[in-house]
Amino acid sequence: MTKMVINPNRKLSRINREIYGHFSEHLGRCIYEGIYVGENSPIENVNGMRTDVVEALKEIRVPVLRWPGGCFADEYHWKDGIGPKESRKKIVNTHWGGVVEDNSFGTHEYFELCRQLGCRTYVNGNLGSGTVQEMSEWVEYMTFEGVSPMAELREKNGHKEPWKVDFFGVGNENWGCGGNMNPDFYANEYRRYQTYVRDYKADHHIQKICCGANVDDYEWTKEVLSTCFRHSIPAQHGFMDGLSLHYYVHPEGWEIKGSATDFDEKTWYRTLNKALFMEELICRHGRIMDEFDPEKKIGMIVDEWGTWFTCEPGTNPGFLYQQNTMRDALVAGITLNIFNRHSDRVKMANLAQIVNVLQAVILTEGDQMIRTPTYHVFDMYKYHQDASLVDSSVETEIIGEEEEWKVPNLTESVSEDADGTLHLTMTNLSLEESFDIDALIVDRSIREVKGEIVTDEMRAMNTFEDQDRVRVKKFDGAQITESGVKFTIPACSVLHLELR
Ligand code: AHR
Repeated sequence: MTKMVINPNRKLSRINREIYGHFSEHLGRCIYEGIYVGENSPIENVNGMRTDVVEALKEIRVPVLRWPGGCFADEYHWKDGIGPKESRKKIVNTHWGGVVEDNSFGTHEYFELCRQLGCRTYVNGNLGSGTVQEMSEWVEYMTFEGVSPMAELREKNGHKEPWKVDFFGVGNENWGCGGNMNPDFYANEYRRYQTYVRDYKADHHIQKICCGANVDDYEWTKEVLSTCFRHSIPAQHGFMDGLSLHYYVHPEGWEIKGSATDFDEKTWYRTLNKALFMEELICRHGRIMDEFDPEKKIGMIVDEWGTWFTCEPGTNPGFLYQQNTMRDALVAGITLNIFNRHSDRVKMANLAQIVNVLQAVILTEGDQMIRTPTYHVFDMYKYHQDASLVDSSVETEIIGEEEEWKVPNLTESVSEDADGTLHLTMTNLSLEESFDIDALIVDRSIREVKGEIVTDEMRAMNTFEDQDRVRVKKFDGAQITESGVKFTIPACSVLHLELR
């Protein structure tokens, strides 16, 4: 019997709903086809947004959506994407497949999408190839209420009311595709550009996200923070609200990556081991952030994460389209448990990407749409949004096939929602063994337990021919005990228990 302890008396931090956030880039078939089909499409849509996709995304309660990139953001000139569609500039999407970008999805369409989803907005500005004036005018266009050139332009384009920008990224990956800057140069640029990301409404602060490190580039974190902190304006408030971190899981390394669907047991454990590396990254970048910001006022914003495999055979390599299996479900479950457990510092995370790109929650083909195994994990974990992380621990053993890539058999996190219901999410990384769990819940007698699970063999996936093979199923295996609850978690599974 594996022992687990849950102590609801110890609430550790609030799990910001934005940890369950998503990312949409002008890349491949993410925006066009995946989300936006245009008002005249035969595919059912509201103001151009696919109804099936929007409805499915509402079910998992998408809390925030980052847009327009990614690498695309630092080449995006927002004025290309406003005004009458027929006169919008057609450009080449140089980063992603060299295809024509007709700019039919721009600022107005993004805010319409967020309105339909009922989610918060995270706009990523162009620091790499755009000017300070361009960034400043975009913020004015989106948020200024009253008489101003940009507010007038917005009204002329059909939207009198300003929108609400919740988060604004001051550049993306500026150590790479966003201008190949060194940390000191970027940090000074950040100081300058962010000055003109103004709060036009006294009662609404746009949270500014500074470009953070690629994976384990701790030097970047240190340098950027020292330039932005030691010599910055005395009042830190509003200068920097978040520092980003990007980390993708490539089982065979960046060059080879590896197939999304054709993999063996060794690669299974290697992939999960790499997913678990997220914890080390959060701890080590977090320790550097603590030196500057011990009160944890600045959020770590993991605004790109997920699996990145070799794209599906026969698809445009620049479109990053990949299938999604139980392995992705485990990566999602493991990573979200890590984010929950570090929610004192991790304030937002955005899975890359929402539809048809990388570890997507939804895949589309023409008028068809499927929910991936990752979608179902987000569906089960949605109850953690805005809940309080509760102290918990579970006994683990080390499993796996290769010495270098061993993993713990189980990961978990527990939260308490506003109604006092406890939500336990657990992943079983083992491909062979189920585990009997005996969970002691301190000072709480449980009256009712409900469960749901995503489980199947490791390569199981949903296809357009077999759309619901992997999905959330009812889990009846949990029993209330005198001290808490006991259950058996099957091999290769992600579980959610609701305890009242
Ligand atoms: O998500 C795909 C790309 O990965 C993004 O555009 C970029 O920011 C990152 O390198």
